[in-house]
Order: sequence, then C-alpha cells, then structure tokens
Amino acid sequence: MTRGRIWRIPAIVVCAAALGLGSAPDAGAEYGDVVINKRAEKEGMRPVVFSHWFHRIRFRCKVCHFELGFKMRAGANDVLMADIIEGRFCGMCHNGQIAWSAENCDLCHSGLPGLKSGIYGGHDTLGPGRW
Ligand code: HEC
Ligand code: HEC
Ligand code: HEC
Repeated sequence: MTRGRIWRIPAIVVCAAALGLGSAPDAGAEYGDVVINKRAEKEGMRPVVFSHWFHRIRFRCKVCHFELGFKMRAGANDVLMADIIEGRFCGMCHNGQIAWSAENCDLCHSGLPGLKSGIYGGHDTLGPGRW
C-alpha cells in the first residue's frame, strides 16, 4: 500500500540532483548575469549581458543547455551573430516571435567596454545596462 509513496521520493531526488549537479560549477550563475565577450568587443560591439536568472525562471535548463547546445561554462561558447540571425543560440527565441528580435543590438550588447566573460552579480540579476 505504501509503495506508491516510497517510489515517489527517488523520482524527486533524481530531479533535484539533475538540476543541482548541473549548477555545481558556480551556483551564483543561476542568479547572476553572464557577460559574454569572447568576440563582441574585438568586433567593435559592447560585451553581451545575459541575465541568467531572468531566463531560467522562464525556461527549463535543458532548452538552452541541451537543445540549444549552450555549454554550461561562462565564455565557453562560440556564438556568431550569423548563428543568432539564423535562429541558433539566443536567436531561437530572439526572433521577433518568442522574444524581441536580433535587430535590438543594444539590448544584448549592453555591457560596459572592457568587461571580461564571466558571472557577475552573485545573487542579483540586474539585467541590461547594469554592468
Ligand atoms: C539576443 C541577443 C543579441 C542581439 C539582439 C544582438 N546580439 Fe550580437 N551577439 C550576441 C551574442 C551572445 C554574441 C557572442 C558574444 C561573444 O562571444 O563575445 C554576439 C556577437 C556579436 C558580434 C561578434 C561575433 C560576430 O559574429 O562577428 C558582433 C559583431 C555582433 N554580435 C553584432 C551585433 C549587431 C550589429 C546586432 C544588432 C543588429 C546584434 N549583434 C544584436 C547576442 C546578441
Ligand atoms: C535561456 C537559456 C538558458 C537557460 C534556460 C538556462 N541557461 Fe544556464 N547558461 C546560459 C548561457 C547563455 C550561459 C553562458 C554561456 C557562455 O557564457 O558561453 C549559461 C551558463 C550557465 C552556467 C555556467 C556558469 C559558470 O560559472 O560558468 C551554469 C552552471 C548554468 N548555466 C546552469 C543552468 C541551470 C542549472 C539552468 C536551469 C535551472 C540553466 N542554466 C538555464 C543559458 C541558459
Ligand atoms: C529559450 C528562449 C530564449 C533564449 C534562448 C534566449 N532568450 Fe533572452 N529572452 C527570452 C524572453 C522570452 C525574454 C523576455 C522578452 C520580453 O519581455 O519581451 C528575454 C529577454 C531577454 C533580455 C532582457 C532581460 C531583462 O533582464 O530585461 C535580454 C538582455 C536577453 N533576453 C538576452 C539574451 C541573450 C544574450 C541570449 C543568448 C545568450 C538570450 N537572451 C537567449 C527568451 C530567450
């Protein structure tokens, strides 16, 4: 009779572990902003500020880190603007349908010049223009 209950517990533990392990490299990243500046500034654009918290409360981790192929390490991804415009990476959503489109350069390229790729803000997510 109590079997159903006993079996539910492991399912929850497995889910929590999957999320928890995923965030192990830097728990702060789940809340903070990620600056992506591998190429942007070299190509004359301001660094990109990606508000991780803002996005992760709206979408499952696997949408970005599995289906879209974003590696879970700040600065580890090679993202070209051409990819985004063709609907990959940020462009899967920033296409004028799910979210505003790639024409809004400044909303993503909002970082202060000279910012290096990495996690900023710890438990705060402050969004575009803050860093
Ligand atoms: C939805 C977010 C987003 C928008 C909007 C956006 N970008 Fe980007 N862009 C990125 C990301 C992420 C990168 C990768 C940054 C890096 O690795 O340094 C990038 C990289 C770039 C690069 C360097 C790589 C390359 O392909 O040469 C240039 C130049 C660039 N963007 C120009 C633009 C211009 C111009 C616009 C507006 C027409 C724009 N971006 C709009 C997110 C965006
Ligand atoms: C909307 C897309 C999106 C979603 C949803 C998302 N992430 Fe991310 N995540 C990213 C991007 C983009 C980066 C930065 C990659 C880069 O800098 O190249 C990142 C970076 C990370 C990092 C690296 C932090 C570091 O210290 O280097 C971790 C860990 C992470 N995400 C965990 C998660 C977890 C756990 C979830 C779900 C709770 C999640 N992400 C949901 C897009 C997303
Ligand atoms: C899975 C879908 C998805 C992906 C992938 C995604 N975004 Fe977004 N993003 C959204 C949605 C939805 C919004 C909210 C749009 C609105 O309010 O109109 C948003 C909002 C934003 C905002 C404004 C957030 C704020 O704090 O006000 C920025 C900046 C942004 N995205 C940058 C990026 C960058 C850079 C990438 C790639 C590294 C990216 N996004 C990838 C769905 C996505």
